[in-house]
This record gives sequence, structure tokens and C-alpha cells, in this order.
Amino acid sequence: MGFRTKQVHAGVEPDPVTGAILTPIHQSTTFVQDSVDEYMGKGYSYSRGGNPTVRALEVKLAALEEGVDATAYSSGMAATVAVFLGLLQAGDRVVIADVVYGGTYRFADQFLSKFGVEVTFADATDLGAFAGAITDETRLVFTESPANPTLKVTDLAAVSEITHARGALHVTDNTFLTPYYQRPFELGADIVIHSTTKYLDGHNATLGGAVVVNDEDLQERIAFARISAGLVMSPMVAWLTLQGVKTLSERMDRQSASAIAIAEYLAGHEKVDYVSYPGLPSHPAHELSKRQASGFGAMVGFELSGGIESGKKLMDAVELWSLAENLGAVESLITHPVTMTHASVPAEERLKAGITDGLVRLSVGLEDVDDLIAALDEALQRI
Ligand SMILES: Cc1ncc(COP(=O)(O)O)c(C=O)c1O
Repeated sequence: MGFRTKQVHAGVEPDPVTGAILTPIHQSTTFVQDSVDEYMGKGYSYSRGGNPTVRALEVKLAALEEGVDATAYSSGMAATVAVFLGLLQAGDRVVIADVVYGGTYRFADQFLSKFGVEVTFADATDLGAFAGAITDETRLVFTESPANPTLKVTDLAAVSEITHARGALHVTDNTFLTPYYQRPFELGADIVIHSTTKYLDGHNATLGGAVVVNDEDLQERIAFARISAGLVMSPMVAWLTLQGVKTLSERMDRQSASAIAIAEYLAGHEKVDYVSYPGLPSHPAHELSKRQASGFGAMVGFELSGGIESGKKLMDAVELWSLAENLGAVESLITHPVTMTHASVPAEERLKAGITDGLVRLSVGLEDVDDLIAALDEALQRI
């Protein structure tokens, strides 16, 4: 079955009681059991352990990633935390790419060490150095590609190989490209994380997360962490996300086509110092991106030649682009990573990883691309 067919139909059957074409919102804490001996006979007991509306989304996401199973969470961060809780113990080591979402960095840096897990951040694009950071005590290797916010691209197949050579698991955050453009399991990854808040919902309406796995045992361990810690997605969020996912491919294609046009426009502008977009031949991993993904996505990073001061003026002045955190939705957003999404990464680490003070991040939405470029052009003239 093709991706578009699966994004509409996977996980969803007409409701057996009423025939409703959309999965009902099973807004219920508990599920009545037929008898003590038939406990969980219908598959559900208490919504912290599982809920039919949430389950429909999990089945859909597992089908789209071509994984074995999935679990859904209250946020992308809850999904990442469930993987750590489910799979790590004191004495383990984790290697994390030096550029990842700021919240992932913060949790690893400030919480994992409290539980006796040692964390190393390393540049996943320097495969020799990255391999050197992985030891026999390493349980998990965590990547994000393209990475938030610099759009650095990691060779996921190569990282899977060096990770498996040490007997560790490769976890990758596929939020930026989604399974429509990138299938990490085909590149050897073991666990795929999503902030469903972004492209999967696509409408700035919810906070949610998902973990997709390629193995039943991993599913069991991670689901056990979820029920134990209560990191669950609500039925209403699952229902909204189920509707959002149905148009994922169409949104991704349109938003990415606009992103290419915007990246090209910015790259040719005299006030722009550099543009980071994997779809531009000037991106260091342009060829790798073409090999490991079927699209470049709709996130663009750039810096103005006037640095941070000009960047701030642009973000304050530009019309149509909302100054806000989040990404992946139909509304175009403009973000300053250093004060917003990556404020929790220490300045020294940020600079080492190329997250400069002047970096501006765009999440290209679904508006007319001519209007988006005209708004940037008008603001650039004014600053
Ligand atoms: C790549 C990536 N992963 C994970 C997250 C965390 O997701 P959430 O905000 O849903 O917790 C984000 C949030 O911006 C993100 O950009």
C-alpha cells in the first residue's frame, strides 16, 4: 500500500457500533471489565496503560514508519524520556549528537547524570570522532537529522553501523522529515522518535510525541516506562493528530517546495551572510540528503551579515511570519533559537555546535510562497 493510502486509512476502521468513519474520541478514564477472569478481554483497562483512540494513532504511525509497533506520549519530550527510562540503568553510557533539540540536550545534560548515566555529546557528522565516543558501556546512541536548529545532516546508515558494532541501539529523532521523506529503519535505526506536535499534527493545535520501534521487546520496555511514569497522550490529542496525519504528504510537499524557493531567495540576498538548507547545493550534506531522504523538508536556517542585531530587527519587523516557537505547522513561523528553542544549551556548547547568536530559523508554512518571500523582502529592506 502506498504512503498516501496508509496515511489516510492505517489504524482506522469504521466504528463497529455506529459506523462512524472517524475513530471516536474515547474520552474515558476506565474501561468496564466483563468479569475478573476476563480482565482486559476487550484490550483496555485504564487510559494510562492504553486507550483506543490513542491506539489508532499508534497503529497508523507504526505503519507509516514501517516499524513493528509504536507508543504515543503527551509530548515529544515525554517520548524521548520514555526511551531513556525504559532502556537505561545506572552505569550505562549514552552518546548524543552535539546538535539536537534544546529540550533533549537539557534532559540528557541535567537529568540523566542524576541517575548515574554518563552522557557524551559528539559531532555525528565527524564519523571517526563519533565512533570514538561510543564504548562497550554505551547503550544508546541518539541522533537527529536534519538537526534542530542548524539543519546539520547525519549519515544515519553509517551511525547505525558504528552503533551496532558496539552492541548499542541507534535512536533517532525523525521529527523534521517525518516518515514521508525519511525512513530511519531502512537506514538501520532501532528506535524512531517524533514530536507529533510538529508536522504530524501540522496545525499548531496539540502537543504530542511518539516512539516507533522495530522490535516487540523494545516496545514492551518502553511502554512499561510510559505506564509507570504516566507520560501518556490524551484521546483528544490523538484524535486531532489522526486527522492531521491524513494530509501529511500534501503539506510536506507544498511546504518543502516553498522552503526551496525561500532558501534560494535568501541565498541571493545581499544582506544574508549564509543559508543552511539541505536542498541547496551549498549545504555540506546536500548529496547525502538526496541519498538518505526523498525530500529536504521545510525548515531553513540563515544568518544576516549584520549578525544578531540585524536578525532581531528582522524577526521583530517581518509581517506574516509569526515570531514563535514550534515548527511544522501550516502557519509560517520565525524563531530565534538562542533565546527560544535552545536557550538551555550553554553558550559555549552552542557555539561549538554552530548554533550562533545570529541564527534565524524559519518554519515554512502553507501560505502562498510569493507572499512569504514578499514579507521577508519588505522587512529586509527596512532593517
Ligand atoms: C526535533 C525535535 N524533537 C523533539 C522536540 C520536543 O517536542 P515537544 O515540544 O512536543 O515536547 C522538538 C520540539 O521543538 C523538536 O524540534
